[in-house]
Amino acid sequence: MPIRFHEQSRTFHLFNDQISCLMKVLPGGQLGQLYCGKVLHDRPDFDHLFECRPRPMLVCYFEEDEAYSLEHCKQEYPTYGVGDMHLPALDARTPAGSRLLDLRYQGYAILPGKPPLQGLPATYVEEDGEADTLRIDLADPDAGVQVSLYYTVFRDFAAIARHAEIGYAGPGTLELDCAMSLCLDLPDADYEMIELTGAWARERHVVRRPLAEGVQGVYSLRGCSSHHFNPFLALVRPECREQTGEALGFSLVYSGNFAARADVDPYHVTRVTLGIHPQHFCWPLAAGETFVTPEAVLVYSDAGLNGMSQTFHRLYRTRLARGYWRDRVRPILLNNWEATYFAFTQEKLLNLAGQARQLGVELFVLDDGWFANRNSDRGGLGDWEIDREKLPGGLAGFGQALNEIGMQFGLWMEPEMVSDDSRLWAEHPDWVLGLPGRRPHPGRHQYLLDMGNPAVVEYLYRRLESLLDGVPVTYIKWDMNRSISDAWSRSTEAARQGTVLHRYILGVYALYDRLTKRFPQILFESCASGGARFDPGMLFYAPQCWTSDDTDAVERLSIQYGTSMVYPISSMGAHVSAVPNHQLNRVTPLATRAAVALFGTFGYELDLTKLPEAEKQAIREQITFAKAWRQVVQFGTFWRLQSPFDGGDTAWMAVAPDGSSALVGVYRVLQQVNAGFRRVRLAGLDPVRLYRVTGPDGAVSRHYGDELMQVGLVTSDGSCGENKTGEGDFTAWLYQLEAEKA
Ligand code: GLA
Repeated sequence: MPIRFHEQSRTFHLFNDQISCLMKVLPGGQLGQLYCGKVLHDRPDFDHLFECRPRPMLVCYFEEDEAYSLEHCKQEYPTYGVGDMHLPALDARTPAGSRLLDLRYQGYAILPGKPPLQGLPATYVEEDGEADTLRIDLADPDAGVQVSLYYTVFRDFAAIARHAEIGYAGPGTLELDCAMSLCLDLPDADYEMIELTGAWARERHVVRRPLAEGVQGVYSLRGCSSHHFNPFLALVRPECREQTGEALGFSLVYSGNFAARADVDPYHVTRVTLGIHPQHFCWPLAAGETFVTPEAVLVYSDAGLNGMSQTFHRLYRTRLARGYWRDRVRPILLNNWEATYFAFTQEKLLNLAGQARQLGVELFVLDDGWFANRNSDRGGLGDWEIDREKLPGGLAGFGQALNEIGMQFGLWMEPEMVSDDSRLWAEHPDWVLGLPGRRPHPGRHQYLLDMGNPAVVEYLYRRLESLLDGVPVTYIKWDMNRSISDAWSRSTEAARQGTVLHRYILGVYALYDRLTKRFPQILFESCASGGARFDPGMLFYAPQCWTSDDTDAVERLSIQYGTSMVYPISSMGAHVSAVPNHQLNRVTPLATRAAVALFGTFGYELDLTKLPEAEKQAIREQITFAKAWRQVVQFGTFWRLQSPFDGGDTAWMAVAPDGSSALVGVYRVLQQVNAGFRRVRLAGLDPVRLYRVTGPDGAVSRHYGDELMQVGLVTSDGSCGENKTGEGDFTAWLYQLEAEKA
C-alpha cells in the first residue's frame, strides 16, 4: 500500500487497491485536503483539485493573493483565527493568551507497519507488511506548537486510521482545549448522515437524514461513549443502500466524551470532525510534553452500507480485538442476572448451573450480588469482599463446584464504582470523584472512583488480582452503571482539572491492560448498563460487549441491526431471556428469542429450572444448533438484508468465509393476513454453487447462489392467504444453506 510524496507538487497520495487519500502542502504551508474516497490512479500532481477563488468577505492569507484564504482551502488540521471560520481541529491557548495558531508544513516520515498509541486502544498490524504509516509534521514555531498527523493505510482494508500528536516547546504551559483525532473537508454536501442513537434499553437505532447547512452531529458528555449516541457517523450518498452506493464511515476508538460532527458551510463544503469533546477538556502541556489523541478510523465503501460495515467488522475483529479469544468461538453461557437478580444462594446457583450443563451450556456467569452488603443496588461496591453467606466456599469453592459439573466459571464486577457505605470510601475519601466539601451526585446509588489517579488503579488491580488468583475464572463481565458527574479529582491540581475525564478513561484502559495481561486467558465482556460503552476502545481489551439490557427479541432486532453498522457479530452479547420479558412485558416465542440471539455471542439469561420439559428440550436443540453455526456467525461475513427500521420483515444472514455455508434469519413482528408474496434476496453467496437450503420446517430445496441472490429465497408463508398456519406475531424463520460438493 503505497504512500507517495510527489516532491514537485508537494502532494501526498496514500492508497491501496480500494481507497485513496490525497493531501497537498498549500501555498501558505498549511496541509490541504484534495480527495478521500475510492482509489485513484496515481499521478504527479492533482493541483487542479485545489480550489480557491476570490470571494467577498474573505480573510486573505497573503496581501497580494485575493484568492488564497484558509476559509475556502480544504484542510487537514485547521485552526481558528488566521482565516478559517469553521469549527477547528485544534484549539489551544499560549501563555501569552493567544489562540491564533497557524500550522505549517515541516516535513514527513514514512514508517513501516503501524506504531502503537501509548496508553490508548488502537488498530494494529501483526506484520509490518500489512500497513504503512505516514507522519506529517506541522508547526507554528512562533507559538511553540508542533503537530504530527499520523495516517495508516492498510493493505487489506478500505480504511485509514488517523490520530494526532500535539507537542509544545514552551515557554510556560500551553492549554490544549480541543484536539480532534480526525478532520476531513469534503468538497460537497450531497450526503445523508447516519448516526446510531437511542437510550438505555434501546441503544444504537439507525437514524438517517440529509445533510443541511450548519452543524449536525452526535456527542457524549456522559464520561462514557453512552447509550445515547455512538462514537460513529457515516456520510452516504443519497442513493446508498445496504448493498449499493458510496459510504464513508467514521469511527472513534475511544470510550469517553466525544464529538462527531458534520459542519456544512454555505458553499456546501462539509467538514467532518471526530475526537474528544472539547467541553470539559483542557490539557495543559508543559515544554517538551506531547498529547496523543485517540485514534479515528475512516472506512470507504462503494458496496453500500454492508460494504462499509464488513470492513469495520473485519478490521475490528482481527486488528483491534486481541488476545486468546480473538479467533476462538465464544462459549455459550448462562447468566444468572435475570434468573435470580440479587436473591440467590450457592445451592440455587448450582442447581441452575447443573440444569444448564445438562442442556449443553458451557459457561456459568455469576452476575451482580456475590459480594458483601449487596442484596440490592444500594451498596456494597468498592470493597469486593465475598459474601460468605451466599458463597460459603468463596469464589474458589464456587468455581470448583462449577468445574466439577463440567461448567466454566464467569464473574461480574464493576471496578470503577464505590458505594457510600464502603470501607474504601471511609479510608480514601480522596479517591472518589467530587468537589471537596460538596457531596457528589449519586447515580444508581453509587459513586465514581477517580480512575485518573494511579493509586486507585493500583488498588483495584491488586484487589482484583488477589480475588481472582487461584479461582478458576475464565470470563469476566466488567460493568459500569452510571454516567460520570462531579468530575473533580482531589489528587489533581486546580489547573489540571480539565484532564480528569480523559484521564479517567486512560485509567480504565490501564486497568484493563494490566488485568488482561495478568489473566490472558480470561474472556472479558465489557458492559455499561447494557450498551453504554459499546465502542471500539473497549473492543481492544474486551472482544465482546453486553449489547443492551433489553433482551426482548423484537427490540433486539433494531438494537443488533444498528450495532452491526460498525461492530462485528462476535462482539455482540445476545441472550435468550424469560417471558413476559423483564424490560417490556412482551411475550415472544422461545424459538424467536433464540433466532435473534443466535446472531451474537449466544447465551441464556433466565431460570432454566422453572421451564417445562418441552422448553428444556427446545433449548437443548437450540444449543446444539448454536454450536454448529457459531463459527460461521462469529467469524463469517454478516449481511444486513432487510431493516427493522423500514417497517417490514427484518432479515440478515451470515456466510462462511469460503462461501460454503450460510445461516439466514427472517423475522416478522406483526403477523399479516392475505399479504403479498415474499422473497428475500440473499447476498455474499458463490453465484455458481448449488446450495442445499433447509427451511424452518425442515423442507429441503436446492438453488444456485445466483438465483438466491438475484431472485431471492421464496419466503411466502401462511400470511399470503387466510393465514391458518398457526404462526402469530413475533415469528422467526431460520434457513440453513450448505453448498453441495462440486
Ligand atoms: C447492569 C448490566 C446488567 C446486570 C446489572 C447488575 O445493568 O447491564 O446486565 O449485570 O448491571 O447490576
